[in-house]
Amino acid sequence: MRKKFIAWLVLFAILLPISEPSLAALSEAESAAAAADYQKYCALCHGADRQGYLNDHAPSLRSESLIRSGFPTEIKYTIGYGRRGTPMGAYSEEMGGPLSRAEIDRLARWLKDQVGVEPLHLSTEPVSGDIDLGATIYAGHCAQCHGGQGEGVTAPAIGNPAMLSLHTDEFLKYAIENGRDGTEMRAFRETLSADEINGVTAFLRTRATGWVAEQPALQAPPKSDRYILNPDASAPDFKLKDGRYVLSEDLYRALQDKRRMVLLDTRVTSMWQMAHIAGSVPIPYYYERYDQLVADLPDDGTWIITYCECPRAAAESVNERLREFGLENTAVLWEGIQGWVTLGYPVSVGQTLAEQTSP
Ligand code: HEC
Ligand code: HEC
Repeated sequence: MRKKFIAWLVLFAILLPISEPSLAALSEAESAAAAADYQKYCALCHGADRQGYLNDHAPSLRSESLIRSGFPTEIKYTIGYGRRGTPMGAYSEEMGGPLSRAEIDRLARWLKDQVGVEPLHLSTEPVSGDIDLGATIYAGHCAQCHGGQGEGVTAPAIGNPAMLSLHTDEFLKYAIENGRDGTEMRAFRETLSADEINGVTAFLRTRATGWVAEQPALQAPPKSDRYILNPDASAPDFKLKDGRYVLSEDLYRALQDKRRMVLLDTRVTSMWQMAHIAGSVPIPYYYERYDQLVADLPDDGTWIITYCECPRAAAESVNERLREFGLENTAVLWEGIQGWVTLGYPVSVGQTLAEQTSP
């Protein structure tokens, strides 16, 4: 009980500051800084023009529907805390990410300004409806894109407890009624009745059980003298797929055999804090000090393996940079860490502050 209570305290302590209203208009300098942050941190998946679907089926960030229903709170929560279990990581410093509250606020306001519509500030009251009817509607009209369990296929994971805990019923309902202009998500107000829409919204809410945003107890990343795993051992004998990819099975065997290599985790650093392959070093896809990194890495042909979430975009971008710097024997984990976990291979899990403070 006590542990849960502390976890909730932590949740409120971290969620409240991010939800402060952002009213003032951005100055030209702030707008330019936000645009640069967007290109550095977000364009990899959401695309340079916020069009979405560049990698990992990241949604569009330029639909009027998203901005109207989601600005500011829902958008800032998503950027700050991510959607655990999806490739959308947490970017707030509290969670081990790179952005301060002020930078997240600036980025959210910039996203709104690009679309140029005013937010609706929807009610935060729950939507009630017939859950059984909603389940039938879901199976018939939604599952083909969002997955039988709402796990997301080509569309967002709307049955994901983390996503549901961060978003209100009215935010979901707005997307269902009005669709998301410019995307595959059409407006169901044209084909479903009000009861059916309320039912499917209430049905989604039933899946939001038991998720709490816990503030991680941040760990210090390994120093450069610990980049090489098993420095005295021999190199693994990797046979690359398509000249670039190493399979989880082969990486796991090499780790078990304690072979010499470097493992780089290229996801946003908050994801490394939550769980990573033991021995990996966080070098996120937006990392910039390559001169320093390359100086710290061995240049004797030691294998350097990069991995990311699901499965390869961020890892490929870091791998590409390392190859430009002339490093040999670099490879990308084919299945990504999600595939790695699905195959049953282990990860090292971070602690939360709640775990540290509970007796
Ligand atoms: C590694 C890929 C990746 C990166 C990088 C990334 N996102 Fe996402 N983002 C996603 C995915 C995938 C989703 C949808 C997750 C889901 O719910 O299934 C998402 C969802 C979102 C949403 C919710 C949109 C909606 O329709 O509700 C917002 C807002 C968002 N991202 C903003 C950002 C911003 C801002 C950045 C940069 C700071 C960023 N993302 C970086 C992959 C990414
Ligand atoms: C043809 C595929 C498709 C179907 C069918 C579909 N959706 Fe979607 N849905 C999407 C896509 C793609 C998005 C993300 C659009 C974007 O880029 O903003 C989305 C977004 C959403 C969102 C917003 C999620 C978020 O992360 O903000 C909700 C809620 C949603 N859909 C619910 C439903 C429900 C309920 C149904 C059935 C009544 C349904 N969808 C049917 C493709 C689909």
